[in-house]
Amino acid sequence: MGFRILGTGSALPARSVTNDDLSEFLDTSDEWIFPRTGIASRRICTTETLDDLSLEACRRALDASGVTPGQLDLIICSTTSGDHLIPAQACAVAEGLGASCPAFDVSAACAGFVFALDVADGWFARGRAERVLVVAAEKMSRVVDWQDRATCVLFGDGAAAAVLAAGGESPLATSLTTEPAVEILHVPGIAGSSPYDETERAASVLSMEGRRVFKFGVNAIVDSVRTLCEEAHVAIDDIDHFVFHQANERILSSGVARLGIDDAKVARALSETGNISSACIPLALDRLARAGELEAGQLVALVGFGAGLDVGAMLLHWG
Ligand code: ACO
Repeated sequence: MGFRILGTGSALPARSVTNDDLSEFLDTSDEWIFPRTGIASRRICTTETLDDLSLEACRRALDASGVTPGQLDLIICSTTSGDHLIPAQACAVAEGLGASCPAFDVSAACAGFVFALDVADGWFARGRAERVLVVAAEKMSRVVDWQDRATCVLFGDGAAAAVLAAGGESPLATSLTTEPAVEILHVPGIAGSSPYDETERAASVLSMEGRRVFKFGVNAIVDSVRTLCEEAHVAIDDIDHFVFHQANERILSSGVARLGIDDAKVARALSETGNISSACIPLALDRLARAGELEAGQLVALVGFGAGLDVGAMLLHWG
């Protein structure tokens, strides 16, 4: 019992912030940012909440799939930057949609969408669900330090979703790994106000060892694609689309060069959105689907990688 993706949807905030806009309050420039990252601008929430973006993305995915909220058996949200610590972001989605199925979040940073697909696959395998809504929603503008030019320039906000149905050939292969290393890419939890707490807590903003993340990202792409091919008994050339986490263009192009992949098969959704953590992969999928570039029967490789250090990879049979 596998699954198939019936439809996708996405939503971005209206406000586009260019590299030049950032240079108005940060010691940075388009000349520094664009060649190193491939990012020209990113969408940043102003009046939109993450609930708003999540719901919009989910409604579009439901419309595209012809599924109603009442037909959903499960809602999973991948997020590390939700509007709510309690309850799960997925509960806000369920309430907004008027759905009454179980709803919970998955936290696996930028690999979260693929981890969530794997959770859904388990529900299908156990016969617990016929239709599952998976949404990845991230408000990275909430967790970055806007005074840290080495990190805040990389990220953006947005949400993207997919509706899955039981029955189908996907996934052909799945690989989830964790190479535990918390400090390399880290956002500490909120300090709270307990009068008993004697621990020292750093500010709840993102810190990153950029060069170590760079090497990890390239290796994640290369190793995951090879693992998927071995597990599914397919050659790299048999894969029609590669949808990698959109961390930065140089990570993508280094991985692509090492694998010898045809660059035209590699999804790019980064230059005007920045890194939206776990929403990157479903956003890129949604763009491919709406551009009519995904044909039934094609093979699509997803590789998400990020804090943890978590890597989630899946080979899908489209349609
Ligand atoms: N504008 C201008 N100068 C900057 C900026 C900026 N935005 N950011 C850093 N610098 C400066 C630094 O202060 C430093 O100056 P110094 O030499 O005077 O001290 C210099 O540029 C070099 O800094 P590095 O951090 O060493 O820059 P590096 O060449 O490594 O590039 C980058 C930084 C682009 C982040 C790179 O490390 C990288 O691509 N890392 C991958 C990490 C990544 O993309 N993460 C995405 C999020 S994680 C994920 O999604 C998995």
